[in-house]
Amino acid sequence: MNKIIVNEVGPRDGLQNQTVLVGVDEKYQLIQQLMAAGINHIEVGSFVSPKAVPQMATTKDLVAQIGQPLPVGMSALIPNVKGLELAIESGVQEVAVVLSATETMNQKNINMSLQKTIDVCSEIVTTAKKSNLRAKAYIGVAFVCPFEGDVPLPWLLDLTKMMQQSGADEIVIADTIGAASPSLVKTTMDLLVAHLGSEILSGHFHDTRGMAIANCYASIEAGIRKFDSSIGGMGGCPFTPNASGNLATEDLVLLAQQCGYETNIDLSKLITAIEYASKITNKSLGGRSYPWLQRNYGAQGKVGSC
Ligand code: COA
Ligand code: ZN
Repeated sequence: MNKIIVNEVGPRDGLQNQTVLVGVDEKYQLIQQLMAAGINHIEVGSFVSPKAVPQMATTKDLVAQIGQPLPVGMSALIPNVKGLELAIESGVQEVAVVLSATETMNQKNINMSLQKTIDVCSEIVTTAKKSNLRAKAYIGVAFVCPFEGDVPLPWLLDLTKMMQQSGADEIVIADTIGAASPSLVKTTMDLLVAHLGSEILSGHFHDTRGMAIANCYASIEAGIRKFDSSIGGMGGCPFTPNASGNLATEDLVLLAQQCGYETNIDLSKLITAIEYASKITNKSLGGRSYPWLQRNYGAQGKVGSC
């Protein structure tokens, strides 16, 4: 397939870690700008405990403002059955559960044991499918856990198969702390693709060690064609020490474009969205390619300069 699907996770993974509380109107405006740039896969927020992640307390209002039912392609992350109920009530049609690969990470993230998380995620996926929702399963800390170290590949394969068997439409292999290397990613994705096929798999990379774009490319080489990314590279997980921002959407779009894959995303309009995300988070954002993009696609720039 000569196309790469970009799933924008800035409004959830990006914003959940920001210290400035971003209002519903601002989140809505950000999503409008992302859509204007051509992005139609967006994780708009999560239905989690407002005490655990205050930034996500307004997801229900945000969904109402975007419009119900929320189109498939726009998803919300849910950690438990209550999250599923809230998502359905709010008119969400695509949900994502989170199963971290290790005991400690599940305890820290959602206060459940690994076995309990496997059971709950399988149950939620099955129930979501019965309710005609699209269901994704994140495998968090799929490569390396900040608490337990390297995740054995056979165990990752087992978890991925469990989520496939429970009926997940998509399984997102997440390098939550940005510790994976391109060679590890290639070996891992090759094995997962051999067992599950590439259609059901996608990738989620953080840029802590500067490897996110290389890990993405390693996944493309293994046949993966869908990736999470965050506008301006904002992000990080509040429950994982030293995790930094996500792969920047602009870097992913540029990688795809330079390698001859279609994304249908407009880089000039993406710059407008980055500027807006910087404004509402009071942070200077932008991926590795951002200065070049500003020169070539920004208001002052012209395509062809370098
Ligand atoms: N949405 C909103 N509120 C929820 C909820 C959900 N999905 N699940 C539980 N709650 C509320 C409960 O009603 C309860 O509220 P109260 O204190 O006002 O009575 C409170 O949260 C605690 O509920 P409990 O079932 O005891 O959960 P917990 O304290 O064991 O916490 C989670 C478990 C999953 C709710 C919590 O750890 C969480 O929300 N984590 C978010 C993780 C996350 O977003 N990580 C980043 C993305 S991977
Ligand atoms: Zn993440």
